[in-house]
Amino acid sequence: MIRRSSPRHGARSDLLRAGPLAPEPGEATRAVPFRVRNPAVLEEVLGAGVAEGSPAEAVPEAVPAEEERPAPRRGRRARRAEVPEEPAPTGWQDVPEPQGFSVRRSLRRARRGWYAPVAAPALTTTRQAEVLNTAIVAAPTDPYGIIVGRDRLSNAPVAHDPFTAYEKGEITSPAVVVLGVVGAGKSSLLKTVYVMRPLILSNRRVVVMDKKDRGGQGEYAELTRAFGTEPLRFVVGGGGTTLNILDPTVLAGSGVAGQARLLSALAELANNGMPLDAKRERPALRAALRATLQRAEADGRIPVLADLLPRLGEIHAEFADHSAAAKEKIHQAGLNVRHLLSALLSDELSGLFDGHTSPNVRLSDRLTTFDISQLPDDSPAVSMVMAVANVWLLGTLRHHRGLRTNFIAEEGWDLVGGPGGRVFQRNSKLARGLGLSNIAALHHIADIPEHDPAVAMLKEAQTVHLYRQDRAEDIDACLRMYNLDRGARQTLANLESGHHLLKIGNRREIHVEHVRSRLERGLTNTDEAMVSSPVRGVVPAEGGRP
Ligand SMILES: Nc1ncnc2c1ncn2[C@@H]1O[C@H](COP(=O)(O)OP(=O)(O)OP(=O)(O)O)[C@@H](O)[C@H]1O
Ligand SMILES: [Mg+2]
Repeated sequence: MIRRSSPRHGARSDLLRAGPLAPEPGEATRAVPFRVRNPAVLEEVLGAGVAEGSPAEAVPEAVPAEEERPAPRRGRRARRAEVPEEPAPTGWQDVPEPQGFSVRRSLRRARRGWYAPVAAPALTTTRQAEVLNTAIVAAPTDPYGIIVGRDRLSNAPVAHDPFTAYEKGEITSPAVVVLGVVGAGKSSLLKTVYVMRPLILSNRRVVVMDKKDRGGQGEYAELTRAFGTEPLRFVVGGGGTTLNILDPTVLAGSGVAGQARLLSALAELANNGMPLDAKRERPALRAALRATLQRAEADGRIPVLADLLPRLGEIHAEFADHSAAAKEKIHQAGLNVRHLLSALLSDELSGLFDGHTSPNVRLSDRLTTFDISQLPDDSPAVSMVMAVANVWLLGTLRHHRGLRTNFIAEEGWDLVGGPGGRVFQRNSKLARGLGLSNIAALHHIADIPEHDPAVAMLKEAQTVHLYRQDRAEDIDACLRMYNLDRGARQTLANLESGHHLLKIGNRREIHVEHVRSRLERGLTNTDEAMVSSPVRGVVPAEGGRP
C-alpha cells in the first residue's frame, strides 16, 4: 500500500522516491490504495525496499471501507481538508503527490488493481514525445523525390532525392554518404533508393563501383543484367576490361592538369600512399605527359601508358634553362616516377591499364557497373580502378549531358580516401555542373585520419544515411560530424537491419525504416546462404503480411 503526502513541487525524482513509513506530525496525508501487480516493477519505479511489505494481497485488508470515504460529490479541497490524520499501518508508504495531474481515488477501482504501475517508465526525447501530440506530428518530408521508407515515429512515408532537394534549395550539395557496420542494410538501400527506383524515372542514369564478391561476380551483376547491360568485369592477368589512363575521354574529364594529378595519385598508390615530391617528381611527370600527348597528336593516334614511361627521365623543354645539377635531379625524379608507374604494367596489375580502353567500356543510359569484386584486396588495384573510372565518367559526361547521374561507390573508402581521394575531391567540384551525385558507403568513420580527403566528402554530404554503429568512437564521430540529437547515441547503437537515421541538410535526423518491395527483396538480400530459402509467393513485403 502506498500513501501519498500533500503536493510538493519538487524534482521529478520526488515522484519516484518512497517517503517515510509514517507521516510527519501535523502533515496532512491521505491513504491512497496502490495495488502492486509486479513488485519488481514497483521496486524499480519507487526505489528499493518499496515492494517489501506491500504484496498485492495485502491491499484489500489495508484499504478502509468504502462507507468511510468522504462523500464523492464534494469538492476536492473540501475533501482534502477533511481527511483525518492517521498513522500508517505497516506496509504503507508515503510518496509525494504527483504534479501535473491528480490521482483518482476510487477505492473500488483501487481494490481491482487500477492505478497499479504495470510497466517500467521510459525516458523520451522531445522528438519522440511529439508523436503524442497529434496536432504537431506530421510527415518529416514532403512527398517529392524518391520514396525511402517510413518514419518510425509518425509512420508517414519518407521521400528524398538529392537532385529534387537540390533543385528546391533544401541542400547545397548532391553528395550522399551511407555509414554503418557490416550487414546493416547499406547495399539494400543503395540498390533500391539510388539504383532501381531512380531508374524508373526518365532522365536518370546510374554508375556503380561494385566491390562485393557474390559467387565469383559482383553483387550488382544480376541487377545490371536486369537493366539490359553486362557488368564491366575487371580481373588481373588479362581477359577482363582495360582502362587506358591516357585515353582522350579520361583527358576530357579534368584536362591535362587533371590527368597529371590522376597519374600522380596512381604513382602514390603504387608507393603505399607516399606522396610524390612536389618540387621535382610532379613537374617531371607533367612535362613527360605533355610531351607524350603532343607526340601522339602529331602521329594521329591515341597514346597509352607504355608511351609515357620512356619519356619520364628525359629533360624536356621546360627544364632547358636549369643548371646541370638541377637537370640531373629532374632526371632522377623522372626515373623514380617511371619506376612507380611501371608497377601498373607489372604482373600484379596486368590487364587493367596496359593498353587501349576496351570497346565494351561505354556509358549506358541506364545502369553501368564496374565489377571490381575479383580484384585482390591486398593490392592498390581497387583504388586505382575507382580513381580512373571516376575521371573517365567525368570525361564521358561532358559529351552525354542531360541525364542526372548517381555515381555509387560501395566500399567508398577506396574512392574517397587516400591519394585517389585527393583526385576525387578536386573533381567533385565539377560534379554539380555535370548533373552528378557522388554516393559513397563506408563502415567506420572514426578510423579516418583527420586530414584525409575522405573527411571533406563526409562533411560535404548533405544527405546522410546513418546505419547501426557498434563502436563508441564511430558513434561519437557521427554525432560530432552531423550534429545529431543526443538521443541518437543510443539509437545508433541499437538500430535494426534496414533502419537508419536520415539527415538531410541541417534538418533534424529522421529514424527511417527502409521498406523494400518483394521484387526488391529478392534482388537485395545478400544473406540467402545464411537463411533458409523463402517460399515464392509468400514472402511478405517489409512491414506487410504474406
Ligand atoms: N530494409 C531492410 N529491411 C529488413 N532487412 C534488411 C533490409 N535491408 C537489408 N536487410 C537485411 O540485411 C542483410 C544485409 O543487407 P546489406 O547487404 O544491404 O548490408 P550491408 O550493410 O551492405 O552489408 P556489407 O557491409 O556487408 O556490405 C540483408 O541480406 C537483409 O537480410
Ligand atoms: Mg554492402
